Amino acid sequence: MRGFTLCLLCLSTSILFFSKPSISASDTLTTTQSLKTNETLLSPNGIFQLSFFSFNNFTWYLGIRYTIDHKKTVVWVANRNTPIQNFNAFLKLTDAGKLIIIDQSQKTIWASNQRTKNATFNNPILQLLDSGNLVVKESNENDPTKFIWQSFDYPTDTLLPGMKLGWNFDTNTETFINSWKVTDQDPSFGDISFKMDYHGLPEIFLLDKGRRIYRSGPWNGKRFSGVPEMQPVTDSIKFNFVENEHEVFYTFSIGNESLFSRLSVNSLGKLQRLTWIQSGQLWSTFWYAPKDQCDNYRECGPYGICDTNASPVCQCVKGFRPKNHQAWNLRDGSDGCVRNNELDCGSDRFLKLVNVKLPETSSVFVNRSMSVFECGEFCKRNCSCTGYANIEIVDGGSGCVMWLDELIDIRLYPSGGQDLFVRLSASDVEEDEARESSDHKTAKAIGIMVGGAAIIFLIIGICFLWRKKKLQCLFKMKSEKRAASLERSQDLLMTEGVFTSNREQSGENNLDDLELPFFDFNTITLATNNFSEENKLGQGGFGIVYKGRLIEGQEIAVKRLSKNSGQGVDEFKNEVKLIVKLQHRNLVRLLGCSIQIDEKMLVYEYLENRSLDAILFNKTKRALLDWQRRFKIICGIARGLLYLHQDSRFRIIHRDLKASNILLDKEMNPKISDFGMARIFGTDQTEANTVRVVGTYGYMSPEYAMDGIFSVKSDVFSFGVLVMEIISGKKNRGFYSANKELNLLGHGWNLWTEGKALELIDSSIDNSYSQSEVLRCIQVGLLCVQERAEDRPTMSSVVLMLSSETATITQPKNPGFCLGSNPIETDSSSSKQEESCTVNQVTVTMLDGR
Ligand SMILES: *[C@@H]1O[C@H](CO)[C@@H](O)[C@H](O)[C@H]1NC(C)=O
Ligand SMILES: *[C@@H]1O[C@H](CO)[C@@H](O)[C@H](O)[C@H]1NC(C)=O
Ligand SMILES: *[C@@H]1O[C@H](CO)[C@@H](O)[C@H](O)[C@H]1NC(C)=O
Ligand SMILES: *[C@@H]1O[C@H](CO)[C@@H](O)[C@H](O)[C@H]1NC(C)=O
Ligand SMILES: *[C@@H]1O[C@H](CO)[C@@H](O)[C@H](O)[C@H]1NC(C)=O
Ligand SMILES: *[C@@H]1O[C@H](CO)[C@@H](O)[C@H](O)[C@H]1NC(C)=O
Repeated sequence: MRGFTLCLLCLSTSILFFSKPSISASDTLTTTQSLKTNETLLSPNGIFQLSFFSFNNFTWYLGIRYTIDHKKTVVWVANRNTPIQNFNAFLKLTDAGKLIIIDQSQKTIWASNQRTKNATFNNPILQLLDSGNLVVKESNENDPTKFIWQSFDYPTDTLLPGMKLGWNFDTNTETFINSWKVTDQDPSFGDISFKMDYHGLPEIFLLDKGRRIYRSGPWNGKRFSGVPEMQPVTDSIKFNFVENEHEVFYTFSIGNESLFSRLSVNSLGKLQRLTWIQSGQLWSTFWYAPKDQCDNYRECGPYGICDTNASPVCQCVKGFRPKNHQAWNLRDGSDGCVRNNELDCGSDRFLKLVNVKLPETSSVFVNRSMSVFECGEFCKRNCSCTGYANIEIVDGGSGCVMWLDELIDIRLYPSGGQDLFVRLSASDVEEDEARESSDHKTAKAIGIMVGGAAIIFLIIGICFLWRKKKLQCLFKMKSEKRAASLERSQDLLMTEGVFTSNREQSGENNLDDLELPFFDFNTITLATNNFSEENKLGQGGFGIVYKGRLIEGQEIAVKRLSKNSGQGVDEFKNEVKLIVKLQHRNLVRLLGCSIQIDEKMLVYEYLENRSLDAILFNKTKRALLDWQRRFKIICGIARGLLYLHQDSRFRIIHRDLKASNILLDKEMNPKISDFGMARIFGTDQTEANTVRVVGTYGYMSPEYAMDGIFSVKSDVFSFGVLVMEIISGKKNRGFYSANKELNLLGHGWNLWTEGKALELIDSSIDNSYSQSEVLRCIQVGLLCVQERAEDRPTMSSVVLMLSSETATITQPKNPGFCLGSNPIETDSSSSKQEESCTVNQVTVTMLDGR
């Protein structure tokens, strides 16, 4: 039993909820009843429950939670700032329609706010609705406007479908979401809020302790101006914005009741939309903000334009120059820009900026019935008007928004933004026009010349290559094919399911670029103390890894790719784009990248306990890893790999899974790192041939090392090797035993067949382990390293086998590569026969396609 619970822990979440079992499953509570700490209200559709929960058995909260995930995600908390200190408490509905939580000592811990103070009710009841709304109402009342109280009026950190975020002017009340103090740990009022400012044109701001850190931009009829990727998803998510004299709010709805999506703020300052992926049983991040430097509020100051594709990201609007040149050159754009030539009201002209996020609109003039032309005329006549734009972009645009002050927080999108007209002195516009037209002519002429020359060179080049280096041509074609397949799978991603945002009609590939977070080279240099020796964490196949600390205090790991790594800019960009999209508890998070001419760097989250091999294969440190930890690590790696193989939107084969690629965080949770060699697959492809064999000897499956055939099953093989290493604390490669011909796999296999498998376990593990659990792991490990790829289990059955004591596990057949650890001969295995094992004469080819 112990093994089972343990793995449930390891398979469920890092946060554990301890709730007493519940029996009551009604959806209503009357004034004569009470809800005790061991009881639950369940919505009629079974999706939401109201119950008491705790993270530590000391402080208890009453909350509404999803029942669909095993973590039971909390979406609302009643007593978030006043936890119950003991387990014996109950919820009661008073005759006056008020909700109260009473604790053991009869003290009122929490009471619902009542807007109608004196009203008396006939028969108030408390009901948990299918939407997750907890309401107090007259028992026969179904009109939402007549509800006495509802939890939807008091959101905590989560906006559910149907909840409103905004203002009600009739009651002068505001609804907003606010993060927990520590997400998933402490539900009390946190620092981060997402709140609407209704002045001017309403916008929603992300605030950190009241300081603005991100804004949505105004609603343009279709979406927020600052969220160009926001698109209604047919039949599922619909976004809505309502503005009238009574109220202004943002809300969203879901068209299909078997789909779930929520918007929430976490204590790390992120706003995110999470959607439930039924097949993977996980909440996946559909969208989040802030995403990049340009999402930071006022990044480039007044009249500055932030453009992630530019370097530096801050540029001045044409006709403006940096206000503080020194700071600007040091890449601090926050002072913004000033005019080259002062305005002169009457003769001023307007410069049209396209695809921008409109500047902040809290003090603008608004007239919804004006056309953009009238708006322009109106702005021109009013000398304090600095710029104007349409409010709505649907049906050719309508409405007029006019700025009377500096334009703040403009950002440029590759596509999907709006048009903005900026007032400029006539002289600035003319200069610009003149330059532009002459530039145009020269550019055209040069273009024709360069184009012609390029074609000639290309033809010569191709012929040359074809004749002299047929091989290289071949490789080029292969990589082009790969690029095409990458493109295809990205298209697939974009159109795939309901939970992917559609691409804007124009600017095909730009969305991907948008999501590439770039770090400034200087920032990295500063953070890593100029790549000093002390900051060096280690050296991998692709370059040196440095520890760094950003000015904000965040610790990072920077992988500085060696110039001769063979990884081209494209490969690099693919890797970054790929990894940024992957988010899983057992994968190392990529924070971004940096490209500086010929220098390429990847910026990862920093993990305190570094890599598994440094602990596992260290005589003194490996005692830190008791069996429970090791088991958790095995399960964690299995889950991470399952995600890569199956649950992420791309099918990813790691190809270089090994102990040094498993990093450990503070709590020793494993995270898989280094997807540098991961390749993307189309959905119907499961394996591929490759000429360039990468990977690490000792972890490579026979078919991969010999024929270069890789598949999910070659990762499964590497996983099996890892499992055996984790159990034994010994390296597969360089393993010594009495029988020197055998490697760890062969040794393990022999012990298994002799029924002495427990002898494999690391001697530094004390006796407090569960024998059946260890045996199960060894069996799974041996199944994974079986010689024939077809015999090896998939990661999903591995996860199942690890998690369940009752799952039937087949008997393993002999492993591939049993022979082997001649310490002198490292890159090819010995060729001696050994009856129970496969013998393979192996030559590891290291052909590079470039
Ligand atoms: C909850 O606990 C109380 C005593 O603490 C007990 O009387 C009651 O039957 C329990 N209810 C359920 C549903 O387990
Ligand atoms: C909380 O209590 C439950 C059962 O009463 C127990 O199984 C669990 O280990 C406790 N958790 C903590 C963190 O103390
Ligand atoms: C509520 O009742 C008290 C006394 O019964 C009365 O003084 C007060 O005016 C009432 N308030 C409202 C809002 O009706
Ligand atoms: C709702 O979504 C499920 C799963 O994606 C699908 O099977 C079902 O047909 C959808 N229902 C409607 C009414 O669209
Ligand atoms: C808005 O513009 C229309 C058309 O120009 C005008 O008739 C109307 O009075 C304006 N409304 C306000 C509030 O300025
Ligand atoms: C410009 O328009 C604003 C908003 O309508 C108005 O408050 C201001 O007085 C106008 N200024 C001038 C100089 O007309």
